[in-house]
Amino acid sequence: MEDVLKEIESLREEIRHHNYRYYVLDDPEISDAEYDRLFRRLLELEQQHPDLITPDSPTQRVGAEPQETFTEVKHRIPMLSLENSFHDQDIRDFDARIKRFLKDPTPFDYTVEPKIDGLAVELVYEKGALTVASTRGDGFVGENVTPNIKTILTVPLTLIEMGKRPIPDLLEVRGEVYMETEAFESLNRERINKNLPVFANPRNAAAGSLRQLNPRITARRPLNMFCYGVGEISGDSFDTHYELMVGLQEWGLRVNRPHIRVCGTIEEVIEYCHYLEEHREDFPFEIDGAVIKVNSLALQARLGHKARSPRWALAFKFKPTQETTRILRIDVQVGRTGALTPVAHLEPVEIGGVTVKRATLHNEDEINRKDIREGDTVIVQRAGDVIPEVVKSIPSKRTGQERRFVMPTHCPSCGTKVVKRGDEKISECPNRRCPGRVKEALKHFISKGAMNIEGLGDKIMAQLLDRGMVTEAADLYHLRYEDLIRLDKIEHKSATNLLNAIEGSKNTTLGKFILALGIRHVGEHVAELLATHFGSLERIQNATYEDLAYNKKNGSGIKGVGPEIAKSIVSFFEDEANRKHVRRLLEAGVRPEGPSPASSSSIGGKSFVLTGTLKSMKRSEAKELIRKKGGRVASSVSRATDYLVVGESPGSKLKKAQELGVEVLGEEKFLELVGEK
Ligand code: IVH
Repeated sequence: MEDVLKEIESLREEIRHHNYRYYVLDDPEISDAEYDRLFRRLLELEQQHPDLITPDSPTQRVGAEPQETFTEVKHRIPMLSLENSFHDQDIRDFDARIKRFLKDPTPFDYTVEPKIDGLAVELVYEKGALTVASTRGDGFVGENVTPNIKTILTVPLTLIEMGKRPIPDLLEVRGEVYMETEAFESLNRERINKNLPVFANPRNAAAGSLRQLNPRITARRPLNMFCYGVGEISGDSFDTHYELMVGLQEWGLRVNRPHIRVCGTIEEVIEYCHYLEEHREDFPFEIDGAVIKVNSLALQARLGHKARSPRWALAFKFKPTQETTRILRIDVQVGRTGALTPVAHLEPVEIGGVTVKRATLHNEDEINRKDIREGDTVIVQRAGDVIPEVVKSIPSKRTGQERRFVMPTHCPSCGTKVVKRGDEKISECPNRRCPGRVKEALKHFISKGAMNIEGLGDKIMAQLLDRGMVTEAADLYHLRYEDLIRLDKIEHKSATNLLNAIEGSKNTTLGKFILALGIRHVGEHVAELLATHFGSLERIQNATYEDLAYNKKNGSGIKGVGPEIAKSIVSFFEDEANRKHVRRLLEAGVRPEGPSPASSSSIGGKSFVLTGTLKSMKRSEAKELIRKKGGRVASSVSRATDYLVVGESPGSKLKKAQELGVEVLGEEKFLELVGEK
């Protein structure tokens, strides 16, 4: 019996140590398989000897029974909130206020760290064991969410002593519970499939998941936590906030250490706030601002707090990516492949410094699922350079005047009866001469990444279409000067320039040409893959489904081409009208020559994943560079990944890559590979 107890205790200790390496330091020492072996052995022993199970055993995270209600927890020290600021000047004013208050010219440091968009919780550790976890509530009294918090793998059930400092008898640690963006998106996808309402953002998803009466539900939600401060702490021996963060980490708590910056001046503070805002999309979780804190804990104590917020801290809020506005009307646009997309026309609203007037509603199914009506107040989201989208409606704001949207039965551009593409719930105009459709197809054809024909603006294009001078892209190559000069608003110079641009576009690459054809699901990346793989237009045209769709089992097909894309390509070239159009383009003198130089580079078709912060460029720039050179960027590491590019303070992707034997590139090596060095 004594031996069993010994083994159990040593297993627990070992598992705690590996949890710390994995979850807190993001630097595991053993493989997942080895970890699983330890964990299973502990489970086995505990099953044989249930009397030896302790609540702080690593096996005791899940399994608690559902609660009836949440009990209340009083915070020993109120959980305050932060004063917000929006402009650089607010930060300077904050600095000036502090200096006035302190009446002391001695310089001091600030820390700046990401403000994570989740919900605040407090964990109480007594003699190193997690006893109570609660939400912030009204700041004085929160809800007891202990069983739920215990399901979060990055929250230690017991503190460990990794540094010099002994574990305090009492530690109230505070932090933010959040959900990573990718996990949030996959949770929503799952909910869509189950016909459940989606969460508007990761914060709501995190809050909804934590406030579950049944902890088994919480356990299935991928929550995470960063600690950023303390309430009461016995035997307190820290001088600065930064030291405190290091100390928490050495007790096994997860802190956002690589992104906490100590700044000597307020201008440095401002600079780092901007840096974080610029890089906000590089984080795997949402950050809605930066938190600025006076680093010295003694100064923090002297500064004290106002009614609701400390004087020593300030939140610098980033420009929001979501805003509330109203849908004025919904109309339907015809895309280049004939797909009809409902578009919401909005009361103009500024999001992240850009005025948004329209947002996509994707398709009819989405509108119905989200119950979005004309006249509704809605949440609109804009992130990076993607098209703004309507996230959800706010039904409580309805007046009764709202109108439900019905998809038109006939194409709004040409009046042809709309058909449904069965498997995809998408409405489509089947008329290949539909002016709306042709216009979009032409715009796509001449776009920069495709045939790159400059000088064909909306006004001229509209006239060419209205007068029937162009009914498909190949007609462009038959336009003569005499035709163009007769149009309104065109002069000698622009007519000549346009004709030269059209002529110049004839020399192109196979990838660009394939892209220009506007095959459904074939974007820049897939077009390049096809060009590299087949090498000639003829071979692409004659490719079968099996030649195209990637088959993991026997390695046939093209990596990166799935069944949907393959089907679309085959059916495109099966269509005699499309084949004829291609023939006309070639007869007009268009010469797609082999794969583009970019895709024949060493990274053509290769799959990249990025982790950590790069020194020489933003993540978005690195992604663009990879794509430009013919590579592909994925968000998570899998067996299909060719390279993992590792910047400063990489995430868990590094471990995954090492496990799967994926080649890992440092920044220098990466730049060399893409030919930027
Ligand atoms: S420090 C006295 N640091 O922001 C309050 N808060 O708007 C000390 N938050 O309720 C808070 N990341 O939930 C701090 N790195 C961070 C934070 C952070 C997110 C949240 C926290 C707080 C809210 C205030």
